[in-house]
Amino acid sequence: MIVVTGGAGFIGANFVLSWLAQSDEAVLNYDKLTYAGNLNNLASLRDDARHIFVQGDINDGDKLAALLAEHRPRAILHFAAESHVDRSIHGPAAFVTTNVNGTFSLLEAARNYWQTLSAIEKTEFRFLHVSTDEVYGSLSATDPAFCETTPYAPNSPYSATKAASDHLVRAYHHTYGLPVLTTNCSNNYGPYHFPEKLIPLIITNARAGKDLPVYGDGQQIRDWLYVTDHCAAIRRVLEEGKPGETYNVGGWNEQTNLSVVHTLCDLLDELQPKHSGSYRNQIKHITDRPGHDKRYAIDARKIEKELGWKPAETFATGLRKTVEWYLANDTWVSQVQSGDYMKWVDLQYNSKEQA
Ligand code: NAD
Ligand code: DAU
Repeated sequence: MIVVTGGAGFIGANFVLSWLAQSDEAVLNYDKLTYAGNLNNLASLRDDARHIFVQGDINDGDKLAALLAEHRPRAILHFAAESHVDRSIHGPAAFVTTNVNGTFSLLEAARNYWQTLSAIEKTEFRFLHVSTDEVYGSLSATDPAFCETTPYAPNSPYSATKAASDHLVRAYHHTYGLPVLTTNCSNNYGPYHFPEKLIPLIITNARAGKDLPVYGDGQQIRDWLYVTDHCAAIRRVLEEGKPGETYNVGGWNEQTNLSVVHTLCDLLDELQPKHSGSYRNQIKHITDRPGHDKRYAIDARKIEKELGWKPAETFATGLRKTVEWYLANDTWVSQVQSGDYMKWVDLQYNSKEQA
């Protein structure tokens, strides 16, 4: 079996669902269920014996050690993290605790477990660390895209803690020989995306008749990748990635934030038109994110050439699927928008000036 950490979150849940759709190898899903973890994402697996869910913190080394000894996985795929840049600006401590200390604790549990394996099991074991393109910092309009050798220059508390975790993972390979793999991916979007992030926030706010908040001039650029394409890349890296290597994963799909918001409004105008006017009329430019990275872009040639991975979705097909999913899943949306979500919206948006 494999262990997945953070498998109740956005990408982790999509990964578990897509894994079990193409394999009978069981998944032990270890997740703390923070505000971002949601068992409703995994509702279709409720009676599926191949999915074992355990609620727990990656900082709990004893619990991890007991689970690894009991289930003897052949791989650990590490998705668990605090993942939202804006939250890291308001409260960086949780990011250090989970992304740095938690990854360290998980690496220690993995190393101790790995040392108990037979020689052949040791060679075949993998620790796959899911990371981000944000560790490379920000590009100018003319800089070449991030490749695997681009120097690290993280700019937010979130990206700094992800960079720290990448370095720890690297060191466990170099020092102890733990067979690690790291993926650095661009912005994901798709089903089960928590509506604190740009794309699901715009869709859900638009439908609720609320402002569509664009930070600053909206000319910042991100590369967008449909989440199941990211999951397929992770499966390829797990299958044939070389221990100790890192792989950049991206969609060759750079978009300004304003263009993403316009496209979403146009899709909603088509799929769920308002009585009068366009959703574009709800766009509001607000105070920029402090330290906002201007541009991310991924050079994904290594994973394409060495592992034969390519994204299956274009931005047009992926975004349409995403909007359709949100239109068809009102119950999921209203459940995640209850409770703590409203406190976050209040903290992040209600005191912001119009830009
Ligand atoms: P998410 O915030 O949606 O989910 C994170 C999950 O981790 C949640 O289920 C949460 O309960 C769990 N978790 C948090 N702290 C934990 C802890 N201490 N112990 C155990 N579980 C804990 O995040 P996501 O967007 O699905 O991102 C998953 C991973 O992919 C992260 O490592 C993130 O840095 C990375 N990543 C995300 C993106 C993106 O666009 N979302 C892009 C590149 C890389
Ligand atoms: O690049 C990969 C990263 O992408 C991941 O590592 C992170 O976990 C993930 O959250 C994401 O980070 P971003 O900060 O790029 O994503 P977010 O959806 O928060 O914002 C996307 C862009 O949209 C960014 O330039 C900020 C802007 N934005 C965001 C929000 C929430 C707005 O203009 N308005 C908003 O309300």
